[in-house]
Amino acid sequence: MTRLWERERFARFGRAAAHSSVKPDTPPAKDKRFTPDDRLPDAAQGAAHLRDVFYRMGFNDQEIVALSGAHALGRCHPDASGYSGPWTPTPTFLNNGYYNLLLRLPWTVKEWDGPMQFEDPSGKLMMLPSDLVLIQDKKFRPFTEQYAKDNGLFVKDFVAACGIASLLYARVRLAVSPALLPPHGISCLPMTAGTPS
Ligand code: HEM
Repeated sequence: MTRLWERERFARFGRAAAHSSVKPDTPPAKDKRFTPDDRLPDAAQGAAHLRDVFYRMGFNDQEIVALSGAHALGRCHPDASGYSGPWTPTPTFLNNGYYNLLLRLPWTVKEWDGPMQFEDPSGKLMMLPSDLVLIQDKKFRPFTEQYAKDNGLFVKDFVAACGIASLLYARVRLAVSPALLPPHGISCLPMTAGTPS
């Protein structure tokens, strides 16, 4: 079974790759598919934007949905993104709860001064517009339903997609400065139980 520290490490790499402002093939500034400062992706946009961003990195629809499951972890901070709140009631635990919440709760637009986001009936949980896309888009939705039903499948696909994301991130870091990489290089080890060093 995958240990928590390993899951967190992979989530961190995936998040860094998905939220990185530095891309190996930065598009021209006038390319309207991407945000002006190239901080990607933009949570306010729809399915076309998610595909523009993730297809460019070589991910497909299934992998976009799997990676988005990282939002089972953590929360939004008004002083960072402007959005506010956690996606799930267990923000330190990575499982398929994010998909079940997306599908089962009636999400409504939050009335507040901040950017448009969705809230559950309790007002404690939130979803970004880009999260809702996973149930609104007819090609994304079947993957959301599969992951909601099958936690093992979600974890397997999430780890696989995060592995790709972490390698992409390493490539970005290398492009920026080889000095940022460990001197012994990067090794890809199988996900086995063991004591973190
Ligand atoms: C699908 C497109 C995505 C969008 C639009 C998006 C957007 C966001 C936003 C707006 C936040 C809140 C930041 C803050 O206020 O601190 C956030 C947080 C987070 N994202 Fe994403 N994200 C996306 C994909 C991903 C992916 C692929 C991963 C990892 C595989 C990821 C992992 C996380 C995590 C773990 C947090 C919580 C951070 C914290 O608690 O400080 N996200 N994301």
